[in-house]
Amino acid sequence: MTAAPLVETRGLGKTFTSGGWWGGAREEKVAVEGVDIAIPAGGTLGCVGESGSGKSTLGRMLIRLIEPTAGSIHFDGRDITAIGGEDLRATRRHMQMVFQDPLLSLNPRRTIGANIARPLANFGIRGQESRDRVERLMRLCGLDPSQATRYPNEISGGQCQRVAIARALALEPKFLFLDEPVSALDVSVQAQILNLLLDIQAELGLTYLFVTHDLKLIEFMADEVVVMRHGRVVERGTAEAVWNDPQHPYTRNLLDGVLRLDAPPDWDALTRRLEGVDTGAA
Ligand SMILES: Nc1ncnc2c1ncn2[C@@H]1O[C@H](COP(=O)(O)OP(=O)(O)O)[C@@H](O)[C@H]1O
Ligand SMILES: [Mg+2]
Repeated sequence: MTAAPLVETRGLGKTFTSGGWWGGAREEKVAVEGVDIAIPAGGTLGCVGESGSGKSTLGRMLIRLIEPTAGSIHFDGRDITAIGGEDLRATRRHMQMVFQDPLLSLNPRRTIGANIARPLANFGIRGQESRDRVERLMRLCGLDPSQATRYPNEISGGQCQRVAIARALALEPKFLFLDEPVSALDVSVQAQILNLLLDIQAELGLTYLFVTHDLKLIEFMADEVVVMRHGRVVERGTAEAVWNDPQHPYTRNLLDGVLRLDAPPDWDALTRRLEGVDTGAA
């Protein structure tokens, strides 16, 4: 892990503010605070923590789906904290996301092929070039291109996640934010998807932020790991060291499965956000 960081944050923070009108109390929720991470190009940073610890907020800030309220984000050696407009759109094609529930993250009214082609169309790639790319992406992700005319609800959850990964790869990103990408899948399918992610990472030189509530997956997938609690990083190290010799009691509790780690996310909001990923419309 000596490569220069592709993704780096300094003092990154996000405080959500709500209310404050009609005389109501203004509420502030600190979701992420003072996070410094650096993910080397081609490497994987694992991120683990109980539900509500700020993992998704952190990842979505990295790909500029959520505006930070403190600190900075650097991508490929460049400060992207405040970029906007065409600059953001052009940068964001290099940063994509894979969601927990593949079926909910795909458009059910579009065929598999159309789902994968959508980000291509947003960047003006259509017709035969688009069809060729979709076919290559489907093969890369272990899908039979003859399935392109089928709909998401006609294929399995694992196949759907392959489609979602193919779509995330369509614009040839450098960085993928993988937000619990196998948590909704059958255990028998999880390993296949994780192996696919490892294979395409090796083939394409991708950089990952891999979020999970399952610490044993971190050891399988990641080089280094950060453990989050109440929006802060409470422990970091190589995945092996954190797995074998956790220093913080919270991490030990996570390992022992004492803490409640997952809760259903807000899928409607995620899906709306996804439209933003595809169009660059934020
Ligand atoms: N849009 C939002 N508005 C207000 N609070 C939010 C919003 N999104 C997340 N939060 C809060 O921020 C904290 C971190 O959430 P999240 O990043 O989703 O955690 P995790 O992914 O680790 O479960 C939680 O307390 C959550 O309720
Ligand atoms: Mg989350």
